[in-house]
Amino acid sequence: MHYKNLKRTALAVLILLSACSPALYIPSMADATRTGISADSLLIGRKLYVNHCGSCHNLHLPEQYTRTHWEEEIYFMKCKAKLTENEAKLITQFVTAHSKPE
Ligand code: HEC
Repeated sequence: MHYKNLKRTALAVLILLSACSPALYIPSMADATRTGISADSLLIGRKLYVNHCGSCHNLHLPEQYTRTHWEEEIYFMKCKAKLTENEAKLITQFVTAHSKPE
């Protein structure tokens, strides 16, 4: 394949990939103010979520489930992911800060 075509194909693949995977939100000061949870805690929660919850299946977006549903899922996933109570709490705070309305 000609180099130029290869480059164009790579670009097309990149665009496709980014179109198919909506981003996991990055906590802002506005999230911290709205939830009363510090931005630092939300950021740690995000990191824990990415590091512990994507090894067996794709990461689910926070917007996908209600708070109640998230709390139930994390109750079970806590054992699968071998989390401490505190890690589970931080992950719950991160995902429920952008959860689907009940
Ligand atoms: C050791 C593997 C493993 C890890 C780590 C893991 N999960 Fe899961 N998860 C599963 C399996 C297997 C299922 C589907 C079967 C089930 O519900 O037990 C599942 C299902 C889910 C579902 C439900 C999906 C649906 O369609 O209803 C959610 C949400 C979820 N996991 C979130 C998490 C979160 C959050 C974490 C991190 C705390 C996590 N998972 C870590 C194995 C894992």
